[in-house]
Amino acid sequence: MISHPAYAVEPWCLRETELNLDVLAQSESVFSLSNGHVGWRGNLDEGEPHAHPGSYLNGVHEQHPLPYAEAGYGYPESGQTVINVTNGKLIRLLVDDEPFDLRYGWVRSHERVLDLRAGLLHRVCEWTSPTGTTVRVRSTRLVSFPQRAIAAIAYEVEPLDARTNLVIQSELVANEQLPMRTGDPRAAAALESCLQPEEHTAIDTRLRLVHRTTRSHQRVAAAADHVVRGPESTRTSSESTDDVARVTVTALLEPGETLRLEKLVSYGWSGMRSLPAVRDQVEAALAAARSTGWQGLVDQQRESLDDFWRHADIEVDGDAEIQLAIRFALFHVLQAGRRAEQRAIPAKGLTGSGYDGHSFWDTETFVLPLLTYTSPNCVAEALRWRQDTLPTARARARQLGLRGAAFPWRTITGAECSGYWPAGTAAFHINADIAAAVVRYIWATGDADFERRTGVELLVETARLWHSLGHHDSSGRFHINGVTGPDEYSALSNDNAYTNLMARVNLQAAADAAERHAAQAAALGVDAEEIAAWRDAARAMVVPCNRALGVHEQAAGYTGLDVWDFAGTEPEQYPLLLHFPYFDLYRKQVVKQADLVLAMFLCGDAFEEDHKARNFAYYEPLTVRDSSLSACIQCVMAAEVGHLGLAYDYLGEAALLDLADLERNTRDGLHIASLAGAWIGLVAGFGGMRDYGDTLSFAPRLPERLGRLAFSLLFRRRCLRIDITSSHVTYRLMEGEPLQISHGGELIALSKEAPQTRPVEPPTALPEPPQPPGRRPQPRR
Ligand code: BGC
Repeated sequence: MISHPAYAVEPWCLRETELNLDVLAQSESVFSLSNGHVGWRGNLDEGEPHAHPGSYLNGVHEQHPLPYAEAGYGYPESGQTVINVTNGKLIRLLVDDEPFDLRYGWVRSHERVLDLRAGLLHRVCEWTSPTGTTVRVRSTRLVSFPQRAIAAIAYEVEPLDARTNLVIQSELVANEQLPMRTGDPRAAAALESCLQPEEHTAIDTRLRLVHRTTRSHQRVAAAADHVVRGPESTRTSSESTDDVARVTVTALLEPGETLRLEKLVSYGWSGMRSLPAVRDQVEAALAAARSTGWQGLVDQQRESLDDFWRHADIEVDGDAEIQLAIRFALFHVLQAGRRAEQRAIPAKGLTGSGYDGHSFWDTETFVLPLLTYTSPNCVAEALRWRQDTLPTARARARQLGLRGAAFPWRTITGAECSGYWPAGTAAFHINADIAAAVVRYIWATGDADFERRTGVELLVETARLWHSLGHHDSSGRFHINGVTGPDEYSALSNDNAYTNLMARVNLQAAADAAERHAAQAAALGVDAEEIAAWRDAARAMVVPCNRALGVHEQAAGYTGLDVWDFAGTEPEQYPLLLHFPYFDLYRKQVVKQADLVLAMFLCGDAFEEDHKARNFAYYEPLTVRDSSLSACIQCVMAAEVGHLGLAYDYLGEAALLDLADLERNTRDGLHIASLAGAWIGLVAGFGGMRDYGDTLSFAPRLPERLGRLAFSLLFRRRCLRIDITSSHVTYRLMEGEPLQISHGGELIALSKEAPQTRPVEPPTALPEPPQPPGRRPQPRR
């Protein structure tokens, strides 16, 4: 996208200077607005042309059968897919009898701007109709952070050179016609007409539609109200049918006169509440928005974002694209999580229907770290959602003959939706990923109440899973066999190092939390014997190593497998999963995405320094990055072991994945975890931040091209600002009580009055390991 000439690179906004239909689908994703509860893709106001119309409500989905050619015990029988709910953003326009449709007539200018500070999407277009009438259309759109049920649009039309008849139709539309599915297996199945009408009304400028999903029985209501301003000739009427509710405004305008419509839309849904209750819910939300008014909503949005940016902004000197990309990333990750409130944060947020709207470990491992240090309340909410789904996860564990909870690999409601065992439920590491997010959140916030009410239960149930899944061998060593680690090009391995190390953290954390909160633990049936068993398993956990090579094994025996024939693989045969059978991938050394390298980041204290460098050099030539979750982690570890130029190239890949549409699937929605990965790359890669041990620690080092990197973090009720140049780093405590941090192993006392500056030591430059042929990241250094 930003490599497309229509896109400008600016520090605080994404500007598209002309409409390009060849990147329309991608633009719909990057211009998405969401608050984590309601999501609107960046579709044009008039609805067409479109690539993928998208209006989403977090949690609203339809079920569908998951058929198998051959049945097997424990296969999930029902799938879940996010659905396109009632479209409230539609505003059609008729200019002297001609529909305002940019495929016809002459587009004199068209600009869209996503303002990352204001949280608004602006559009201004000058268009001459096929019969020669010229109008200027301006619109501004928001999905409110403070009022989570509310989205709003201000829409204005002005004739530019002659008296013009205008008709505006502002609509709510359910069961929109959707384009055909793409051939990409990762894209969602679009379920058509899954909303059954229950009620429709149109009174004056007020509209309402209520529907119910056919199989998942969720009731979805949308309501809208309008403020219309125009010349005296302006007339308004409204009408509704099952799937459409419409306000029509007609006016005759002289050049220079404006017809303005402010549209407030409210959404509500429930799987339990009655029709009157859901109807009242959307009417109440709408009443609140009406009393705030359009300008009030705009002001509130700005205030909410000012607060976010004060604690989260990142400044990058020396690379304007990365500067834009990191703010774009922070904004979209915030949009995905801000008001998700005890719902999942899907892999695509609410920006598209890719991955069927499912969430994965992406949330806990990639998205929640960013939110922990910038918007911690969202993390507590996301983890409370996991806690709410514990009954399902416990049932799944029982079904599998295991104890505790087995969280789903992919899901909307908490039920497992992956029908493919080897890269589904067997990726048991998601349980430890959730536990690690719990540990990180408590560590970074000191939220004791959360630990007591939510943390203990999640840690205990996940620890139980590990204890029942693994076993002690005759010499007492603890193994976890038959699991899939993050690298999905290996499956059902024994002692995957990442899984074992993360399970070890999980078991220890559960034991510590159970001892700190004896009453909660006892209520969960935990006794001293169980705690001792967790500690034993953690102590005896196997971490496989090939001593002859001096490297860790991704899993037991991994380094003994044949190496993939990289030289015989053509560049167009990536991603490998679409061109080679899994059985062959599974029996070779070829890494889809950082696995052992991720373990070295998240469990860095379990590895010696020289081991890290050797491991990195060993796995780098095997790692093909067929997942967008890899580049950011390779950035972090490349920076740690001293390959700053390579780290910088990886940062570029993670940060520009969607803005440059590097994987050619941004049309299906943004890669929220890779966006969060850009933050991980900058903060943990070049800031060298680590959050294990007793203190928050930093080991800054900048790649040559960056003159400066500055970032803020929220940590234990403080706000820190870390300002790094190539020679020095300054640590400032902006808010809160004095605090101790660590800089390259030195403990530093920070107070508001006394910022601390230290020299930055450039790492020893080592020879850079190669990537598999053709898989080098695009050079950025
Ligand atoms: C990756 C998974 C990831 C999923 C959703 C897959 O391609 O291998 O690790 O969770 O995409 O982003």
